[in-house]
Amino acid sequence: MYTGEQFPTTRLRRLRSCAWIRDLVAESSLGVQNLVQPLFCGEAQELEKGWKGFAPFYRKCEDVPKFVEETLLPSGVSAVALFPVIKDEQRDAQGSVGLRSDGLIARTIRALKAQCPGITLIADIALDPFTSHGHDGIVTDGQVDNDGTLEVLAEMACLYAEAGVDIVAPSDMMDGRVRVIRKALDKDGFQNVKILSYAAKYNSAFYSTYRAMLRKMPVDGLCKKTYQLDIRNSREAVREALMDVTEGADFLMVKPGLLCLDILSRLKAETAVPLFSYHVTGEYAMLRTASDEGLIDYHQGLWEALSAMRRAGASGIITYGALDAALFMQEASQRL
Ligand code: PBG
Repeated sequence: MYTGEQFPTTRLRRLRSCAWIRDLVAESSLGVQNLVQPLFCGEAQELEKGWKGFAPFYRKCEDVPKFVEETLLPSGVSAVALFPVIKDEQRDAQGSVGLRSDGLIARTIRALKAQCPGITLIADIALDPFTSHGHDGIVTDGQVDNDGTLEVLAEMACLYAEAGVDIVAPSDMMDGRVRVIRKALDKDGFQNVKILSYAAKYNSAFYSTYRAMLRKMPVDGLCKKTYQLDIRNSREAVREALMDVTEGADFLMVKPGLLCLDILSRLKAETAVPLFSYHVTGEYAMLRTASDEGLIDYHQGLWEALSAMRRAGASGIITYGALDAALFMQEASQRL
């Protein structure tokens, strides 16, 4: 698109001259409705492993509803993504603790829905928090067993649906899981439970911060390259996305969010489903540690990162900074 505009007749700075005009011509916006706060829940009173910067997002299972009711909802953030922190000794090779109906996540979903009925709950579907080896699927003969994992994922999805979850989010990257989960949910009468598929989930060092929170790092030889996408590819992400839509995904996730803005904008053009972006632990920790060092302004940097994901095409953004961003925006609007 060449418009033939030329300086000095055209001066683009005219449209940047004051806050009102900048807001008027803004091509995207960021609001609390776009934000999802991840919360880690476990049995210990405090987060025992990993970077201390994540302590604010950890709660003992029973304390999650109080935090949501008293802190999160008043900020305007009304969607939460739940992740379990399982004790090392409770994990096994099959991840069987993940299928218990009195498990951490099912209990937290029930308690939250009872105390905060207005909340939207997203639960991650994968085996890695529950398995001793840390893989997202069942391991048979040293290989992550795709088809053997599908039924387990479907069972987990139905368990969370039964507890009252709104959205299940398979993050395991097994082939065919969206179809199997949709079928199982429908069979059990959960037609309204939505599927947010991590369609474009790349193998990334930026998840190490998350893994270090769940277990001792590094897990010996843990490598997810046989199921997560290769960072060098983008057409493959489109194939993944289109297959997941065909299988019944309601939304698609792109992850890591900041590293994959190009993928987000590509999926925006090549699919018609609403998209989510995941501002992952490593990306968030980079911003926080840099701001702790006085190198970047935390709130401004966070707002920019989230706005960039909106600009690239995300409807929803999962970010550890959701609460902070909501409070920052609230304060900024009061200053006007
Ligand atoms: C795995 C899972 C991962 C994250 C969420 N679910 C990482 C992984 O694949 O090891 C990472 C989240 C983050 O880093 O913020 N099912």
